[in-house]
Amino acid sequence: MFEGKTLTVRALETGFAELCFDNGAKPVNVFDRQTVTELSSALDALAGSQIKGLLVTSAKKVFIAGADISEFGPAFGAGKEQLKGFLSVNNANFNRLENLPFPSVVAINGFALGGGFEFCLACDYRILSSAAQVGFPEVGLGILPGWGGTVRSPRLAGLANALKWVAEGKQHRADDALVDGFVDEVVDPDTLRQAALARLKSAVDSPAAYRSRRQQKAQPLMISADQAAAIESSALEAIRKKLGDHYPAPQVAIKTMVSAVNKPFEEALEAEFDGFYRLSKTPEARALIGNFLSDQKLSSVARKYASASPGPVRRAAVLGAGTMGGGIAYQNAVRGFAVFMKDINQSALDLGIGEARGLLDKRVQRGALSQEKADSVLAAITPSLSYDGMAECDIVIEAVVEKEAVKKAVLAEVEREVPESTILASNTSSILISSIAEALERPENFCGLHFFNPVHAMPLVEVVRGQKTSDVTVARAVEHVLGMGKKPVVVNDCPGFLVNRVLFPYFAGFNLLMRDGADFKDLDRVMEGWGWPMGPAYLLDVIGIDVAVHAADVMADGFPDRLKLDFPQATHLMAEHKRLGQKNGKGFYLYESGAKGKLAKQNDPETWSILSSHVAERQRFGEDDIVARMMVPMCIEMARCLEEGITGSPAEADMALLYGLGFPRFRGGVFRWLEEIGMAQFCAMADRFSHLGKLYEPTEAMRGMAADNRRYYSQ
Ligand code: 3HC
Repeated sequence: MFEGKTLTVRALETGFAELCFDNGAKPVNVFDRQTVTELSSALDALAGSQIKGLLVTSAKKVFIAGADISEFGPAFGAGKEQLKGFLSVNNANFNRLENLPFPSVVAINGFALGGGFEFCLACDYRILSSAAQVGFPEVGLGILPGWGGTVRSPRLAGLANALKWVAEGKQHRADDALVDGFVDEVVDPDTLRQAALARLKSAVDSPAAYRSRRQQKAQPLMISADQAAAIESSALEAIRKKLGDHYPAPQVAIKTMVSAVNKPFEEALEAEFDGFYRLSKTPEARALIGNFLSDQKLSSVARKYASASPGPVRRAAVLGAGTMGGGIAYQNAVRGFAVFMKDINQSALDLGIGEARGLLDKRVQRGALSQEKADSVLAAITPSLSYDGMAECDIVIEAVVEKEAVKKAVLAEVEREVPESTILASNTSSILISSIAEALERPENFCGLHFFNPVHAMPLVEVVRGQKTSDVTVARAVEHVLGMGKKPVVVNDCPGFLVNRVLFPYFAGFNLLMRDGADFKDLDRVMEGWGWPMGPAYLLDVIGIDVAVHAADVMADGFPDRLKLDFPQATHLMAEHKRLGQKNGKGFYLYESGAKGKLAKQNDPETWSILSSHVAERQRFGEDDIVARMMVPMCIEMARCLEEGITGSPAEADMALLYGLGFPRFRGGVFRWLEEIGMAQFCAMADRFSHLGKLYEPTEAMRGMAADNRRYYSQ
């Protein structure tokens, strides 16, 4: 009946028709322009036909992943009318689908998200595979559903459920969708088509039911003003508690939906558009949509690197069974790799295995893993005091003590035990890969793999290319990091690599503020308010003050012009007084075990007495000054990393900070933030602090961008 590039409609023998989504050009079905246009044509064909009922299916594993996010840029950048034009074609499609002169049933076989799920709500009945998931992830992009999702969902599932689904933006499992009233039936994947056809037949046989369903969606909900206000305030309170005030989308979605719930359908759609338009113009939406696109870029760059790998790793080895080694061994095993964990001490091996067992036990307790699976994961880790078996490993990841001589000795030793094809990697965070490589016979087979702590929870791994690292080594390392379920970002070698290289200028900004009399609690409060999960003093306590001081000294040797600080630094003073942070219960703050074994942070007057004789008289700094003095050094260092080719692109660098440091998602990373404030503005901000030295001096290239009004992403 209709044959497009993204969907087809064909008549079935029963007098029904089947509309099947199958976007050949894309990895998943999405509502891109082509699909939206073809859906209009398919509806023309259906409207003029004699069929009795419509079955909707997908030939892809993902039913429909929503609007094509890569098309948002031009539509969002244009005016209100253009955005309306962008959305209204599909709104008209969904309305036409809902008013066809015969019933429709959608068989949802996989993810139906955002616009994909909104399409399903426009069908008369939704039959869901028990393996599928559905939901409205739009708030995660800083927007709200724009194809009738905010209008149809309260009318189908009730206002409270609809607010929860839209404002939380989660993907829901099939059983939740059924309980919350978003779907009509959940069935085994094998019987999905059959169940959907049976539902269609009964809808054709008794049309009153589906017609009343349409009526229900078309009518206002008519709930009392008091009830609506109560639901609204509890939904707003829940979302504020969870997200704070940095994410406007859930709040706008809640207010929009409540305001429209008693309106006629068309007016409610208008309200939805108004909310959508407002959000589309926010910096948060620009950042969050930017994150999605940058993440796509990160994945595609990684896939490109990995494509040059000579073959997947079959067996991995980890040297050193400390916290990092144990974590890396666990991550390998949990992703199905047999892993050999070597240490020189039995007690360290016991601790490494204990670390892995503890993580597995937690997953079993949460119901995320069966005991049987947990046992088999643990069995995949072979602890050993010798190199026996190492020769079968395709990759060896060194995670021994952070001392160059020890790393060199251990890696040179293991190099003699493994075949020439085995790649070696170091999990160092502060030693140059090219320096360690000097101890090796085959430096081309060696790279850095910088994991973040705790390994199982932190998505990022920096794959560090030393001067002599070969392309094949990088390819295989990237492929293995992907296999471990992590996000690899390839960077060139330099002190601190990428993430620590930009983090330490931020800490230098902190030490300068402390020198000038700032209160670290104010700095934490302001930077957490700016969006960081932890302020700088708290973060230093978590990292470990000794570790941070060591890394800061390495960085100062690497970049003395801006990181050699000629005054007693607060971090170093803390270390001298054995205040090492959470690890020994006192750093800038004092820590005590609280409920559920969590460390509670408290103020400690002793901290100030240690600092007071070395810093200026305590004074309050304005919030803007604190943000500028903390962020400017980080941004300038990031720009240097791009200019020097340490990172491949602004998108990869921004994602590295999001995944490695918890950079505020709604700001999108350093480059995205610079894009938002503008380079001229940034340079002016930096120049206010030029008296503080090179740390606050934008590069020539940055000044050039400011003068020519150029941007990082639009280049
Ligand atoms: N737009 C553009 N590309 C998309 C996309 C979308 N909505 N959804 C997925 N893709 C791309 C991915 O970026 C990836 O691209 P790549 O191969 O170039 O890296 C590819 O499709 C495959 O995706 P995944 O690797 O993520 O596949 P998974 O099977 O792991 O996950 C998924 C599938 C759960 C659907 C996941 O892709 C996802 O969450 N997608 C985003 C869903 C989303 O946010 N939808 C809302 C869109 S906004 C909207 O609909 C507005 C409307 O209300 C007006």
